[in-house]
Amino acid sequence: MAYLSNKEIKKIGFCSFGNNVCISDKASFYGPSRITLGDSVRIDDFCIVSAGEGGIMVGNHVHIACFSSLIGGETIKIGDFANISSRVSIYSSSDDYSGATITNPTIPDDFKNVDHRPVGVGKHCIIGCGSVILPGVTLNEASAIGALSLVKDHCDAFTIYAGIPARKMGQRSRDLLEAEKRFIASKNCE
Ligand SMILES: CC(C)(COP(=O)(O)OP(=O)(O)OC[C@H]1O[C@@H](n2cnc3c(N)ncnc32)[C@H](O)[C@@H]1OP(=O)(O)O)[C@@H](O)C(=O)NCCC(=O)NCCS
Repeated sequence: MAYLSNKEIKKIGFCSFGNNVCISDKASFYGPSRITLGDSVRIDDFCIVSAGEGGIMVGNHVHIACFSSLIGGETIKIGDFANISSRVSIYSSSDDYSGATITNPTIPDDFKNVDHRPVGVGKHCIIGCGSVILPGVTLNEASAIGALSLVKDHCDAFTIYAGIPARKMGQRSRDLLEAEKRFIASKNCE
């Protein structure tokens, strides 16, 4: 994978970005002035990050794997150490499917009823490949989402969910918090 140089990343026009950011030259960004990236963020081939008025904030040590997309008018926040695997779609906007209105972006707002709600992906969350996260959802700290899941509702911290729609499958260990402490300590010694 070819990563952009620091100079090329600057040219994209992000609101801000941290140190050690790796962005594939095949990733696309829309509304970059409303996108902030923390330190040690990696964004792989064919990702699309499209920020509306609410903006998109990505924390530190976040991986967004190939073919994933973060799209919508409301805020999308991705916490530190989050891991978004490939082909994940995170939406903070979605059309009205009831038939009450017309849908799609070529139609003016007066004829539509788009659902815009913020999405939060907490610290240490992991989202399995091919999953879809709908507007208004909060994945609380370290929740884990199985592959090919449809997440419509909030997910509890340190809980594993999977399926369509996603249902609770079990608990996730808190040992990762100890690993985080050790990792931070090891970085402070560098
Ligand atoms: C969710 C997951 C972590 C569960 O793994 P596990 O604890 O080993 O679970 P098991 O394989 O024992 O499955 C337990 C049950 O959940 C079901 N299940 C597992 N994963 C599922 C999924 N993604 N969606 C729906 N059901 C799922 C199994 O069919 C099984 O059902 P049963 O008890 O009726 O037979 C794993 O299946 C998964 O989806 N991992 C994501 C991997 C991924 O996307 N990696 C990308 C790179 S990071």
